[in-house]
Amino acid sequence: MNKIQTIRGFRDILPEKIALWQRVEKEAASLFTTFGYNEIRIPIVEKTDLFARSIGETTDIVEKEMYSFEDRSGEKLTLRPEATAAICRSYIQHKMYASNPVRKFFLFGPMFRRERPQKGRYRQFYQIDAEVFGIESPYIDSELIFLLNELFKRLGLTGLSAHINSLGCPACRPVFQQTLLDFLGKRKDTLCDNCRVRMKKNPLRILDCKVETCRNALKGAPATINYLCPACEDHFAKVKAALETQGVDFEVDNALVRGLDYYTRTAWEIQTTSLGAQSAVAGGGRYDRLVEELGGPATPAIGFAIGFDRLVEVMEQLNQGSDKNGPDLFIVPLGDAALKKSFHWSCDLNTAGLRTDTDFSGKSMKALMKRANKLKAAHVLIVGSNELEKNKAILRNMDTKAQTDIHLETLVPTLLDLLKK
Ligand code: HAM
Repeated sequence: MNKIQTIRGFRDILPEKIALWQRVEKEAASLFTTFGYNEIRIPIVEKTDLFARSIGETTDIVEKEMYSFEDRSGEKLTLRPEATAAICRSYIQHKMYASNPVRKFFLFGPMFRRERPQKGRYRQFYQIDAEVFGIESPYIDSELIFLLNELFKRLGLTGLSAHINSLGCPACRPVFQQTLLDFLGKRKDTLCDNCRVRMKKNPLRILDCKVETCRNALKGAPATINYLCPACEDHFAKVKAALETQGVDFEVDNALVRGLDYYTRTAWEIQTTSLGAQSAVAGGGRYDRLVEELGGPATPAIGFAIGFDRLVEVMEQLNQGSDKNGPDLFIVPLGDAALKKSFHWSCDLNTAGLRTDTDFSGKSMKALMKRANKLKAAHVLIVGSNELEKNKAILRNMDTKAQTDIHLETLVPTLLDLLKK
């Protein structure tokens, strides 16, 4: 019979990997909370229109990568490919702008894009997302980039670089776009098929095309930052200045345009060289027009998303994978009477917070010690009929091999006293 397996591009994250995911979640939640961000949980499925209207009809995500379907009543739905649009929907739907327009959110969760799977690229992947509504000041742009930097620092990540750019606003972008089109018009024959289509639909995206002939054609291309209106120029200058004084390293990258259409002004990516083609560990930017475009009041907004899977992969490469996930204590019961007692001790010790495991199979001492080793238990408690007769159990430190006798009457409090950190 054919065994049923995961769908291509989908994967299980098995228990032995989870410690690292939890560590990142804990660190991120703690940092976000300190900075005044609140967790938000929203649906995984939304109306297709939400993403089509916000991410952009001509982006790769909307054109080729969304998991969209009609439900039984014919409604067009999509598994969320990102969280920003959906958080805007929630901000507008609950009229959050009315009581307090300034809101800061964070979210952990799965996203879905039907891309070609490869290392660091999955069809179900996870993001750590942060969004801020109602603040136009450039200091919030710098705060978000600082936050990312600080989180990566706390997680012990090295070798990352922050690339930033400004994409202008509706006042200055059209002028830039026309200048770019004029420049590319003379080089059209050397552009790839995709970019020739982009010239009509989405010229900015040509700037980050990876095809070599396009890269050559783009040499000397105009840069958005040279066409910013005074307001955008001033905004970007302040973002950079605040980052510099706060000691955050970055480089201005004229080719950074991002793959979603809603961005205005500051956009950035945190890149790594250790994941091959999938170099972006996080990406974000301003989207000052999106809330209004989705039917809310004009509200400046900005945010980022970290690729959680990629972050974990970089940490694993740096040997940050924590495998110290064994129990504090493993009880080795030998014989029925010991087994019965072990059941109660295990319940009571776990309830009191000591991570305790045991084995009810009735197997031999050798087999159970093997299991304790496999589990990476810090201590083992051995109880056989001999020990029961003497009213004691043997506690062994698996590191030092030192052994201590533990009296049965006071076993639970003694173990808690000795082993609970
Ligand atoms: P994005 O650049 O599309 O931005 O995705 C953010 C991050 O998610 C990427 O830098 C990457 O690390 C990760 N990622 C994207 N696709 C995949 C995939 N197929 N497999 C694994 N990881 C992936 C956004 O999604 C925006 N919503 C970010 C944002 C928030 N902008 C403003 N606020």
